[in-house]
Amino acid sequence: MSGVQSLLAPLAVVGAPPRQEGEGEGETCSICFEPWTTAGDHRLATLRCGHLFGKTCIERWVKSQGQEAKCPQCNKKAKRSDIVLLYAHKLRALDNTEQEGMKKSLEQEQSRRRKAELESAQFRLQLQVVTDENGKLRRQLQELRTLMAQTGGRASQPHGASLQGQRQDGSQGGHHYVFSKAVLVSQAGGCRVLSYCEPLSCLLASQPSPQATLVPGCGVKKVSTVTMKACQYVPIHIKQIRGLAFNNQADSLLLSAALDNTIKLTSLITNTVVQTYNTGKPVWSCCWCLDNSTYVYAGLSNGSVLVYDTRDTSTHVHELQPLRSRCPVASLSYVPRAASSSFPCGGLIAGSLEGGCFWEQLDGTTYRPHLLPLETGGCTDIQVEAESRHCLVTYRPGRSSAYLRCVLMELARTPQLDSAQEPSCSCYPVQTFNAGASCKLLTKNAVFRSPAGGGSSLVCAGDEASSSTMVWDASSGALVQKLPADLPVLDICPFEVNQDSYLASLTEKMLKIYKWE
Ligand SMILES: *[C@@H]1O[C@H](CO)[C@@H](O)[C@H](O)[C@H]1NC(C)=O
Ligand SMILES: *[C@@H]1O[C@H](CO)[C@@H](O)[C@H](O)[C@H]1NC(C)=O
Repeated sequence: MSGVQSLLAPLAVVGAPPRQEGEGEGETCSICFEPWTTAGDHRLATLRCGHLFGKTCIERWVKSQGQEAKCPQCNKKAKRSDIVLLYAHKLRALDNTEQEGMKKSLEQEQSRRRKAELESAQFRLQLQVVTDENGKLRRQLQELRTLMAQTGGRASQPHGASLQGQRQDGSQGGHHYVFSKAVLVSQAGGCRVLSYCEPLSCLLASQPSPQATLVPGCGVKKVSTVTMKACQYVPIHIKQIRGLAFNNQADSLLLSAALDNTIKLTSLITNTVVQTYNTGKPVWSCCWCLDNSTYVYAGLSNGSVLVYDTRDTSTHVHELQPLRSRCPVASLSYVPRAASSSFPCGGLIAGSLEGGCFWEQLDGTTYRPHLLPLETGGCTDIQVEAESRHCLVTYRPGRSSAYLRCVLMELARTPQLDSAQEPSCSCYPVQTFNAGASCKLLTKNAVFRSPAGGGSSLVCAGDEASSSTMVWDASSGALVQKLPADLPVLDICPFEVNQDSYLASLTEKMLKIYKWE
């Protein structure tokens, strides 16, 4: 017993009442020190306070004390009538004070352990954040070093030996893009498409989840164009995102298309998905109807374009079947209905490897197809500049050319000779731009109004061969700038902040931002 006691002693310290040797716990009367009995004169008896004695001993004790009688153990007032006989064959009380003490200390240990585990989890999370941040800074440092090396190298080259950052003609009024910031978007790579959310002043780059084990899938990284820093990652899809689009209502509802057979609408204010449509096939592209934001479009891998009415949350309201091939719809753009008499109709331009089609929108669910006279095969991207109705068609190197070619085309509408026939929509080439000899990735290019004004446009394309963004003047066809990147450029997005114009280019990992100066 004493061995066990000493073993348990440290545990029993907390909460266990101090024990006094021989007090009320033995089998003996504390007056005569003889064992009490279960019957007879020395049978078990108690007072109001609960202390135990032999019957005759306590009777004698109380009697001898008279009016001032007290319990011999606790000094509580006692009188003869307080004596109560206890009936027990054999009295045995389990001593569980040690057990209770151990229980208490076990609970305390458990709560300490829970607290420690919680703290440890929090520290692990903090470590992860700091590690990520560290990796990001390392990348930025590397990027800066590379840039410095490039700048240094250029300074030592003979004048005009490099195109980097230099203007090639005077048509942009002496202005050009100047590198402003590189932002690491995804350490692990996998970025693909880029879009700009004007009301929130942030760029959105698609990427796989940075915490793939905790939150698997794909989403977008928000990059603030005010601080020029990457901020939140918003999880949206299960598989790779292929298209991102905003409507022209200047709200922050992001339409996204992914290979997980869905298109989704995500509120970028609450960072939550508010609507999901199951398309039944992987989705390669998407866009809003810019004449009526009730409608959105999904370009599928089997060549069909599905029309969705956002008031109907169940399924598509219309299907635009491919006229010729069943190649995936790699690009979708909406040309708004215009006041222009030369091209008054609005509609959808769907591009696939096999060519393009303009789906003239007659009303919400009536569309009239016009096949566009593009070269067959190798068309990787079609972009639209709505104001000028210019389409930028990109062809990968192939039979007709060894180089990546971007052909700027103008949309036109020609009334048929027979007035009974509907007018037909078509397009014709106005300018061709050549880039390098490789094109393995489906990159997205850009055609937009030049920040230089005067109605001129710029054409930008990612050149895989040189891992750079080519900037051409649309009207003269001249190469204006060649902006270097770390890896092949996958998407290009012009944007404006506080009346300043910028250009962003996205590679698998990095976003590079240039300011028009
Ligand atoms: C493409 O797939 C969708 C969804 O499964 C289907 O509704 C559509 O009819 C298909 N189109 C073609 C051309 O097979
Ligand atoms: C958009 O289309 C819906 C359905 O056809 C129609 O009720 C609504 O008035 C249209 N809105 C605009 C702005 O044209």
